[in-house]
Amino acid sequence: MPEFDETEADLTGVAPRIAPKPTVEQIGGRKLKPSTLMMGHGYDPMLSEGSLKPPIFLTSTFVFPNAAAGKRHFEGVTGKRPGGAEGLVYSRFNGPNQEILEDRLGVWEEAEDALAFSSGMSAIATLFLAMVKPGDTIVHSGPLYAATETLIGRILGKFGVKWLDFPAGATREEIDAVLGEAARGHVALIYLESPANPTNALVDVEAVAASRDAIFGDEKPPIAIDNTFLGPLWHQPLKHGADIVVYSLTKYAGGHSDLVAGGVLGSKAHIDVIRSMRNTIGTITDPNTAWMLLRSLETLELRMSRAGENAVKVCAFLRDHPKVERVGYLGFLADTPGMERQADIYRRHCTGAGSTFSLLVKGGETEAFAFLDALKIAKLAVSLGGTETLASHPAAMTHLSVPEARKQALGITDNLVRISIGVEDADDLIADFDQALAAV
Ligand SMILES: Cc1ncc(COP(=O)(O)O)c(C=O)c1O
Repeated sequence: MPEFDETEADLTGVAPRIAPKPTVEQIGGRKLKPSTLMMGHGYDPMLSEGSLKPPIFLTSTFVFPNAAAGKRHFEGVTGKRPGGAEGLVYSRFNGPNQEILEDRLGVWEEAEDALAFSSGMSAIATLFLAMVKPGDTIVHSGPLYAATETLIGRILGKFGVKWLDFPAGATREEIDAVLGEAARGHVALIYLESPANPTNALVDVEAVAASRDAIFGDEKPPIAIDNTFLGPLWHQPLKHGADIVVYSLTKYAGGHSDLVAGGVLGSKAHIDVIRSMRNTIGTITDPNTAWMLLRSLETLELRMSRAGENAVKVCAFLRDHPKVERVGYLGFLADTPGMERQADIYRRHCTGAGSTFSLLVKGGETEAFAFLDALKIAKLAVSLGGTETLASHPAAMTHLSVPEARKQALGITDNLVRISIGVEDADDLIADFDQALAAV
């Protein structure tokens, strides 16, 4: 939360709110790491009876000290004065738990500002509603998470929003061609997803930013990117030219498969516009979920690191197994013939391969189902990024509604199983995969 400034309060009549003393962000010139800041950043226990952890503020509204303060808050909330509310107003707009969460979310990617939402999809929908109007074009990488594609094509399409796409692995020339064509109309937003769900294909964010800067003059459309699969630990797109980063916090950030939430990070100017839409339509996360996310962020680095280490060991085992056709794991890109361009994007953008990958079992749906049904530790469920290992069948589950030809083009075959590795013991997981493959 922004610090409370007494001078400002005296002048404006805005009352103190549950706000922290400035958090220690460096010691002896040493900038503290996000994993350290997750324990206290944005929260002062002395403002909450000394409670070490922030209480959950279950209230729908906040009391103003006087009418002038209420007026000033609403000037901020409604956008009459830029910069948003200066205090706590009403729980559709803000709340202490959500504000602490937003401060901490921003820390990982050194974002100027951040917002928390009730789901990944409500974050994406709010971003789109804030940025586009009828007649505008969204240029996006493909594939996108199925619901995001539905939102752009079928829902925004009904309101006259147009779209053009380029494949996730597109070269600078291919991106130039699509952006050049789109630039004949009004491009409101460039929207990326990297790695793409479910193919794991990486987008060259640096090339997209260079292409955007070359093609558009002063009115450059912002570049937003869904960073759910690798962020914030292994991929930080704001450092590669993106303006806005989007998350399903349901996945690695929440990390325990026990909540649904979303996040948007970026420059203050962009976030102010999105916040204003969130204030209007009420897509903010609730205080309880925000509190659970604060707990999750304390172990984010531990969980993601362990899951990533487990995935290295499990994928090494699976790659050599006689019943496995191929393992689609980012860590293998450098040694995979024909994947040189993806390997180059990986080397320039990513610091780790994550723990979500595809496993192509030799055979078809029968063999893939036999493998899934035989798993004993890994759970048969969609989603990813939790402490537990999950396995699912995209062609028959998350992507069942995708037309057959598009499934083939994207490589979503009947023998493809998607696996998200958790934080269990790696050798136990290998034993589980070994016995399940034996059952095929
Ligand atoms: C890449 C990606 N983006 C967005 C979403 C949507 O997030 P949520 O389910 O939290 O609304 C998902 C969900 O699986 C996803 O995988």
